[in-house]
Amino acid sequence: MRLILLGPPGAGKGTQAASVIERFTIPHLSTGDMLRDHVKRGTVLGVEAKSFMDSGKLVPDGLIIAMMEDRLRQEDCGRGFLLDGFPRTLPQAEALDALLSRLGVSLDAVVLLDVTDGVVVERLCGRRVCKDCGAIYHVSFHPSRVSGICDLCGGELVQRDDDREDVIRKRLGVYHEQTSPLVAYYEKQDILRRVNAEGAPDAVCRNLEKQGGAA
Ligand code: AP5
Ligand code: ZN
Repeated sequence: MRLILLGPPGAGKGTQAASVIERFTIPHLSTGDMLRDHVKRGTVLGVEAKSFMDSGKLVPDGLIIAMMEDRLRQEDCGRGFLLDGFPRTLPQAEALDALLSRLGVSLDAVVLLDVTDGVVVERLCGRRVCKDCGAIYHVSFHPSRVSGICDLCGGELVQRDDDREDVIRKRLGVYHEQTSPLVAYYEKQDILRRVNAEGAPDAVCRNLEKQGGAA
């Protein structure tokens, strides 16, 4: 199964990805997580990417495409993958198509998680993530059992640097300008599936499954 989860920041891509990868036993390739890992390790890519990420801008296409080409060529992607946060521009989508065609495979579906800007701001302002295992929480919609502590590993829950309201609005603007043209791009290829992502996480998960779930 080769899938893309598309949608604005805060649509719930990371949240839904957790159940989709379990269901299909495929790796979760989140460019945001990969970049944050580079930043944490202080790699050349991480140093270069950090200022773009903190200000809500996209990291340049060349860096992202090289990173994802490397990742998609790894052995575990042979059984499929779930892309989360990639592609995010038309050049990235074209580079992905070219790579997949060189590898002799194709995408099964692109799932668009549909939410309004107001919902996005509410979700991202209250998001907390585990510093150690990356689990995603929300102060009101999905709180941890003990405030500030991850249910899964006991790690500290923190707010992402780019989850400040001014940066969230910037990221939304970037999404509408540079990423939303991908909807028409994948509609033309007849692989786009729209999922209403405004309900609670379980309801969104059911909507996803109804859509074939990406299957
Ligand atoms: P990235 O990490 O990809 O961020 P994003 O796309 O902005 O997406 P988010 O992780 O913010 O949101 P999400 O949709 O995963 O929502 P989540 O499940 O966490 O990218 C970060 C940065 O990296 C970019 O700004 C850019 O600089 C760079 N970058 C990454 N990829 C790039 C690329 N391809 N090209 C160039 N640059 C790139 O949910 C959000 C919150 O809502 C959580 O608190 C959650 O608990 C809650 N929630 C989720 N679902 C629901 C629900 N149904 N009801 C109520 N609450 C919910
Ligand atoms: Zn944790």
